[in-house]
Amino acid sequence: MKLCFAPMDGITTCPTRMITKEIFEKKGKKSDCLQVWTEFMNIDGFLINPQKVCKHLLTNEGEKPILQIFGGNEDTLLQGIREIDQHFSSFFSGIELNTWCPSNSVMKVWGGSDMMRDKVKTLKIIQHLSESLENLPFSLKSRAGLNENDKDQQLAFLCEASQFCTMISIHGRTLKQGYQGDADWDFIQKVKKNLKNPQCLVIGNGGITTYDEACEKSEQYGFDGVMIGQGAIGNPWIFCGEESALQEKKEGILRHLDLSIAFEQYFQEFIEERSDFRNFFCIPGDFREEQIRKNLKNPSFEAHAVIEFRKFLFQYVKGIPGSKEWKVKVLSLTNYGEVRDEVQRFFEW
Ligand SMILES: Cc1cc2nc3c(=O)[nH]c(=O)nc-3n(C[C@H](O)[C@H](O)[C@H](O)COP(=O)(O)O)c2cc1C
Repeated sequence: MKLCFAPMDGITTCPTRMITKEIFEKKGKKSDCLQVWTEFMNIDGFLINPQKVCKHLLTNEGEKPILQIFGGNEDTLLQGIREIDQHFSSFFSGIELNTWCPSNSVMKVWGGSDMMRDKVKTLKIIQHLSESLENLPFSLKSRAGLNENDKDQQLAFLCEASQFCTMISIHGRTLKQGYQGDADWDFIQKVKKNLKNPQCLVIGNGGITTYDEACEKSEQYGFDGVMIGQGAIGNPWIFCGEESALQEKKEGILRHLDLSIAFEQYFQEFIEERSDFRNFFCIPGDFREEQIRKNLKNPSFEAHAVIEFRKFLFQYVKGIPGSKEWKVKVLSLTNYGEVRDEVQRFFEW
């Protein structure tokens, strides 16, 4: 089964992808594979002020995530993806356009879900983007339409779009639904059955919270892959089909924390040392044990990284007796060493 770790802004960062992959390599089933995505990146930001968005592009050697972008301007989308395709394709396994995002900041630049409002125009953009790529395959992330009434048009749009895509990931909820209600998996299946390009892979997404549910959906609908988002936050074991033992959970949290702190340090030092944005982009590669240890020795950007890490930490411990009280205590900490000690202590009793 092809398992997909859904692109999530603020979540699918390089350290999070690293811990997820490490656990999958150790405990995942040999018959499964795991595809990862970057967080989405504003293509206009990349062209205008790359320092601000380049963190979203960083990869670890060999991981090859799919790079997801958003934007609503055809010219800058074309310019940006050509740049990526020509100079940095070796770091990614594909480039993907987001027509999914419901957030106002993305939709106000005619990106994300707003692209579904003018499907004719968006199809042309998709065609031009796909045709402009020489190295990377092009894919699309979308959803079941703007609302119930839009589903037929959205079905036709996605089937047409398949001619220009190697893969389409579909979240089975409409924009109007947000995260409420069930995902419409029958809609995703209709897309799969009516593709203009039968070679285009279809990935189903929406509401999966366990590995067994992913297997059921995969078998029931025969998709090319199943994508999990929120169910994987603070639960990288979801892709392995096993519950984590408490000891294992503790080790996973500490490793994820270490990676997050070391990565922040590495990234900030890198930015301070370099001015050419092309070099920012080229950070991928040697983020190895030695580097991690070196960065953890004297972390100077820890407060930011510790605060960012809370969203994972609190998901990791959710449901464990005593975690509610413990969370309150940890909320006041911004020091890496103190948080590490608290995690150790929490799992000791
Ligand atoms: C915090 C958060 C950030 C997200 N960011 C992105 C994103 O950058 N790009 C994207 O295509 N989808 C994004 N999504 C949507 C997920 O990829 C996924 O489609 C959605 O969460 C539904 O899947 P789930 O029910 O398994 O969570 C985000 C979702 C969440 C919860």
